[in-house]
Amino acid sequence: MSGVTDCAFRRLVKSCSGNAVGLLVSEFVAAEGLTRDNRKTIEMLRYEESERPFSIQIFGADVDRMVRAALMVEEVGADIVDINCGCPAPKVVKRGGGAQLMRTPDRLREILRGIRAAVSIPMTVKVRSGWDGDCLNAMEIARLAEGEGAAMLAVHGRTRVQLYSGEADWSLVQKIRSELSIPVAGSGDVVDPADAIDRLERGSADAVMIGRAAMGNPWIFAQVKALADGLPIPVPTPQERVDALGRFKGYLEEALPERAFQGRFRGFACRMVKGLPGSAQARQRIGAAKNCTDVLGIFSEFILRDYELDEPQESRNAVA
Ligand SMILES: Cc1cc2nc3c(=O)[nH]c(=O)nc-3n(C[C@H](O)[C@H](O)[C@H](O)COP(=O)(O)O)c2cc1C
Repeated sequence: MSGVTDCAFRRLVKSCSGNAVGLLVSEFVAAEGLTRDNRKTIEMLRYEESERPFSIQIFGADVDRMVRAALMVEEVGADIVDINCGCPAPKVVKRGGGAQLMRTPDRLREILRGIRAAVSIPMTVKVRSGWDGDCLNAMEIARLAEGEGAAMLAVHGRTRVQLYSGEADWSLVQKIRSELSIPVAGSGDVVDPADAIDRLERGSADAVMIGRAAMGNPWIFAQVKALADGLPIPVPTPQERVDALGRFKGYLEEALPERAFQGRFRGFACRMVKGLPGSAQARQRIGAAKNCTDVLGIFSEFILRDYELDEPQESRNAVA
């Protein structure tokens, strides 16, 4: 997820959910920036060994640049290169990338064929259900991707025009799965462990991807695995939450100067308290904090004292 799943966040997820995480995926990375030697874009290829298996997603529309970007992904040692055909952002689709590739299948074919011929790591593809209600062509694109050697397809069951509104169409994911012989992963609206297990048990998909729900709950993958194994769902204690936020700060500090990650850090702290009783005021204080150390202090105070004093154990568990 762009702006979210940087190396620091992925390390945090792995540290909270351990081996229950099946696959981590980078933010989408611009083929244009990679092949123009843009320092910040190249920095996005950084990952830690602990993150494996690790996939790097690239986006763009220029065949030659996409192939060269995929080669760079292979060269840094990623396990998988994923091709973004789902991004709805105007600045991406205007230049032919993201979801626009679903409307230019010939271009997409060339890109996939070029990448398949150039790299030896698995190539996967992520699509939406289509561009809009009149152009629901995910099935056609899925077949194209399979035919061009994709090792897996991920489907987010919303159109480009829908952005994130409405509900993700999991019946479409299931239909595509039934017609393809490669694994199909579903994405969209999995908000808790029960949702994930439900999708898998119904046979909607071979794998379930979790996006937004992980943004405030990096333990969710361990929780899904526990539920799948028939074990009690592990709920992080207040101290574990504080420790996780502290670790996240440390991971960010290893990569960036504080001024560059303050926004991300504050955003994550706010998401961690969201939904907890009395959190509105804590979020306000986090928003007004001078720096990340103060954010951590306010968070600890809220989780370890205010929230703990206010709330009985059961309602804390219910939130996680
Ligand atoms: C902030 C944000 C950034 C995203 N960035 C990407 C991205 O870079 N590549 C991608 O394939 N999907 C991206 N997505 C889409 C998600 O991967 C996912 O398909 C979608 O949010 C639906 O799943 P969810 O309900 O589990 O979040 C992004 C979503 C959000 C909310």
